[in-house]
Amino acid sequence: MSPRKRTDSAALPAPVSPERHAAIHGPLLSWYDRNKRDLPWRRTRDPYAIWLSEVMLQQTQVSTVIPYWERFLARFPTVKALASAPLDDVLSGWKGLGYYSRARNLHRAAQEVVERFGGKLPSTAEELLTLPGFGRYTAGAVASIAFGEEAPIVDGNVARVLSRLFEVEGLPGDRDREATLWALASALVKGQRPGDFNQALMEHGATVCRPESPLCLLCPVRDGCIAFKKGRVDELPPAKVRAAPRKLFLALAVWPHAGTLLFARRADKGLFGGLWELPAVEVEEDTSEAEATERLATTLGAPLTLEGTLDSVRRQLTHRDLTLRLLRVTGDKRPTKSAAFQDLRWCTPQEAEALGMSTAMQRALDAVLGHGVLGGDAAPAKKKTASRPARKAAGR
Ligand code: ADE
Repeated sequence: MSPRKRTDSAALPAPVSPERHAAIHGPLLSWYDRNKRDLPWRRTRDPYAIWLSEVMLQQTQVSTVIPYWERFLARFPTVKALASAPLDDVLSGWKGLGYYSRARNLHRAAQEVVERFGGKLPSTAEELLTLPGFGRYTAGAVASIAFGEEAPIVDGNVARVLSRLFEVEGLPGDRDREATLWALASALVKGQRPGDFNQALMEHGATVCRPESPLCLLCPVRDGCIAFKKGRVDELPPAKVRAAPRKLFLALAVWPHAGTLLFARRADKGLFGGLWELPAVEVEEDTSEAEATERLATTLGAPLTLEGTLDSVRRQLTHRDLTLRLLRVTGDKRPTKSAAFQDLRWCTPQEAEALGMSTAMQRALDAVLGHGVLGGDAAPAKKKTASRPARKAAGR
């Protein structure tokens, strides 16, 4: 690990006495040394590889991330390789991980690292924060793990551990609560091996100080845990009240022609920004097929004839409940450009494999091909049978 550096202490008064610091920092580190999972990004000291792991781990669980991280690094082994790759290739390497703004920011940040820092990731949280996609968490994680800076991190796991240890009240998202947690994390990270200490906090939250059924009997810092002493472990932190996912209905044009289908690349901003899709428009739950076809025709700038409908595909994202309605269409004027999309392409299914597409869209495409719209074992088009909702977006 690189030699550690000191950062300014938090502006708030030190919230942790030297005794409490000693009772937590050392024991958690020793526990981590004995119990840490053998994860591939813990075997490297390459800041870029560590950064990549932290970005992937933000919304996705460890077991899912491992093969993605390995494949992505093999495809883009350095910051420079990533910076010079077309965004399309980067999005295609991210295919299946979701939250594609992470990939777009990673790509833009890599380009800035090349332009502003000669291809070497800066080593302080303060400088990292100036790059796209770096918030306080990612900057602290990379600065501490890759460069040994005493920079704090607070993610969901750390927030839970600290809420219990210090009996921090308040709902997730509450500003005073967040400020208290960051102040505690800033105080606790000071000392030896800050990167390992931060990972120990996260690891402890993920494996022992779990949201449900925490393993307090195995906890190395139980003696100093206020929630344990007061029997409040199950109450802290209070569960976040999640808004119900918003329903979103999209009508998709399934337009076969000579062994190809029409694909469109979305504008860079917004949901699924920059990704490829079967051309889609938003509709309402009760929009008729004729009206949806009309909207697709306007969006594509080409008259369309509705030939029939295929299965709808449903997919649950964290904040969206998506229904993709597949409309089989045809038309005489085949577009190659449209003001509503960055690009249009007629692709065979093999060519489409290389396009960056969301998992939802991939499922829709699988359903389309399953219906044999390009020939082969043509299955009859059915009316409005919803498929089972797909796997929920992964949590931590
Ligand atoms: N979650 C995100 N980053 C992590 C890390 N480095 N160790 C454990 N859990 C994590």
